[in-house]
Amino acid sequence: MSTDKEGKLKAAVFASGSGTNLEALLEKQKEGLLNADIVCVVADKENAYARERADNHGIAQRFYNPKAYPSKKEYEQDILKWLKEMDVDLIVLAGYMRFIGEVLLEAYPQAIVNIHPAFLPEFPGAHGIADAWNSDQDQSGVTIHYVDEGVDTGPVIVQERVAIDRSHSFEDFEKSIHAKEYGLFYRGINHAVRDLKKKQENKMEE
Ligand code: GRF
Repeated sequence: MSTDKEGKLKAAVFASGSGTNLEALLEKQKEGLLNADIVCVVADKENAYARERADNHGIAQRFYNPKAYPSKKEYEQDILKWLKEMDVDLIVLAGYMRFIGEVLLEAYPQAIVNIHPAFLPEFPGAHGIADAWNSDQDQSGVTIHYVDEGVDTGPVIVQERVAIDRSHSFEDFEKSIHAKEYGLFYRGINHAVRDLKKKQENKMEE
C-alpha cells in the first residue's frame, strides 16, 4: 500500500464523460474532506471532458482506447501498468461506462468503488435515472458500492434516497440525483479508504 506524505491512499478516477463527479471529488480534495489523493484520471473516450477537468487541476490523465487492443485483457493490462507506476491503491469509477474485467478486479480486490445514480438493487444498468423516473416509484437514490464481476451488484458502501417529484421536470429530477451524488461520493470513498487501511493493518499483524 502506498501512502503520500499525509498518509493518504492514492486513487485513480476512471471516467467516460463530462466528469462532474470528478470535479466534485477534486473540490472535496481541495477542501481537505477527501481521505485519498486523486493522482490520475483514466478515460476510455478521447473527447471525455473529464480529461480537461483533470488538466485544469494539474492531475495526470490518459486516454486508453479500448478499440486499440485485441481484448479487454490487454486493454486493462496496459492501464494497470500505469496505475502501478502511479502507486494507485484505489480505483474510483465516476461515470465510467464500461465493465471492469478480471485483470483490474484481481489487481484491486475490494478496492474498486463505483457510483450509481439509483438506490441499488433498484434500477441497475446504464439508465438508472430514467428507469426510476419511468417507474411507478416515488423515490430513487444514489449508491456508492464496491465493484465485483456483476453489473452494479457489488457490496453497498453507502446509499441515500432522493424523492421523485413528477410535478417537476425530468431534468429537475436528474439535477437532484447529481446533487446527491456530489455530496455522497467522497463519503463513500472515505469509507472504502478506512476499510482498505484496516485490511492492510490486519495483514501486517498476521
Ligand atoms: C453519474 O450520474 C454517475 O452516477 C453515472 O454516470 C454519471 C456520470 O456523470 N454512472 P459525470 O461524468 O460525473 O458528470
